[in-house]
Amino acid sequence: MDTKTVRLDELADLKEQARLGGGAERIAKHKAKGRMTARERLDCLLDPGSFEEFDLFKAHRCTHFGMAASVFPGDGVITGYGTIEGRLVYVFSQDFTVFGGSLSETFAEKICKIMDMAMKNGAPVIGLNDSGGARIQEGIESLAGYTEIFQRNVMASGVVPQLSAIFGPCAGGAVYSPALTDFTFMVEGQSYMFLTGPKVVKTVTHEDVSVEDLGGASVHTTRSGVAHLAFADEVSTLEAIKRLVAFLPSNNVEPVPVIECTDPVDRYCEGLDSIVPENPNHPYDIKEVIQWIVDHGDFMEMQPNFGASLVTGFARMGGRSVGVVANQPQHLAGVLDCDSSIKGARFVRFCDAFNIPLVTLVDVPGFLPGTQQEHRGIIREGAKMLFAYAEATVPKVTVITRKSYGGAYCVMSSKHLRGDINYAWPSAEIAVMGAKGAVEILYGREAANSANPAAFLAEKAADYNERFTTPLVAARRGYIDDIITPGRTRLRLIKALSMLEHKQDTNPRKKHGNMPL
Ligand code: HXC
Repeated sequence: MDTKTVRLDELADLKEQARLGGGAERIAKHKAKGRMTARERLDCLLDPGSFEEFDLFKAHRCTHFGMAASVFPGDGVITGYGTIEGRLVYVFSQDFTVFGGSLSETFAEKICKIMDMAMKNGAPVIGLNDSGGARIQEGIESLAGYTEIFQRNVMASGVVPQLSAIFGPCAGGAVYSPALTDFTFMVEGQSYMFLTGPKVVKTVTHEDVSVEDLGGASVHTTRSGVAHLAFADEVSTLEAIKRLVAFLPSNNVEPVPVIECTDPVDRYCEGLDSIVPENPNHPYDIKEVIQWIVDHGDFMEMQPNFGASLVTGFARMGGRSVGVVANQPQHLAGVLDCDSSIKGARFVRFCDAFNIPLVTLVDVPGFLPGTQQEHRGIIREGAKMLFAYAEATVPKVTVITRKSYGGAYCVMSSKHLRGDINYAWPSAEIAVMGAKGAVEILYGREAANSANPAAFLAEKAADYNERFTTPLVAARRGYIDDIITPGRTRLRLIKALSMLEHKQDTNPRKKHGNMPL
């Protein structure tokens, strides 16, 4: 672009031209792949007419590889602010039609500008990613640009919510910014994230792998846990971002959003009175319990297919946002394993950082035993959950629906980790371990010497069950505040949350703890 004076009657044309990004031809090519443009994505995300753009004319300064002759106003990323349901958000949307959305020094400066503003003004940052990574022609400036963004991601962590959506490639340096944000959403079959692509993988490890199998949405939402949710198309992905924003406060000093509650707080949840099966080894779906107790059954689950023995997500109770953490008896009997512990710990920390009360539903037989888990470090990963619950100062209300055994009892927001209100259903079983394992340890030798070892152990197990598989023991100690009627769980929890609305609690002054990472 030359530097002549801009006449008012030319401004609209200049802007229109700049808004074309990489030009009509590249836009057509991009859309032919079934993709929305970077601007269409913003239109879909933000309230109509709310978007205010910055740096539309900002251009790169690179002169290597003939780049001086190849300048696109805006340089491949659209940045600015707008609103979602009237609430301020800062946004950037990477434009694949300009150098494949690759990141230059200038591109990074534009993102940093809105991140700095988001921090000063206390509003979420939403990044729409579609990028071939570092702009190869720029070299070190591009690396510096990425690192400036990473630094801001870290400073913003726990100050304003940071959300990422991945719409196309997200390779090399491009992956670490989303990884540093709070939630990452992907599009099935069209977005992928990896440090190095299939060609480099082949060279280094001799593996043949497709982009999908290396870093597609399915891989990241089921195996790596890098992404939280995947959707069939771009519009559903953007709708999900809007839905999530509605649950969250805009920053770490704002209280959670409260909306008018049209679902009666005293609605009796009759389905809960019979949801726990007679046979303690039979599963039931904890998501049904969540749907019964939260407002209108509206639950936004995070990471449903990763660490699935623990359910995490957002809902509202009495109109107020809550974070729900619940063992899932339908998956691996609800055990805590490495994946579910990591997932739970990160979710608890997010809620704590943003003043979102935690509702914990407990039905957990313990941590998953075995060499695979021990060798993966279940000790360290389980300790993450302990750490997260122990340091959390937000209101913590808990219901033990059935099993609460061993270390998993301690972890799941127990009274001893500063749980504020701890309830149990009459079906609760709270003990160091299950009866069978316990009596074999306690009475193994005596059983071997008895006339009928099996009958001997069965009798001891019945006695053990009598003593421990009841919530009364914990209630007598005050570890459980009350044994409640399952059908009244919604009301009891909402009353507890309301009582805790102005809770104040602190941790000792320190630079930061040393979480077992
Ligand atoms: C400059 C790039 C680019 C890049 C793509 N383009 N990636 N330009 N730097 N990194 C340009 C292409 O030249 C092309 O320009 C246009 O974008 C579209 O690219 P295509 O290859 O035609 O598109 P497609 O076939 O869809 O393939 C997309 C792609 C591929 C898979 C992303 O372009 C690709 O592999 N790019 C390189 C990925 C990569 O290795 N990045 C660097 C990672 S290293 P024209 O003019 O033809 O439209 C890294 C380290 C940073 O990021 C570490 C920081 C911590």
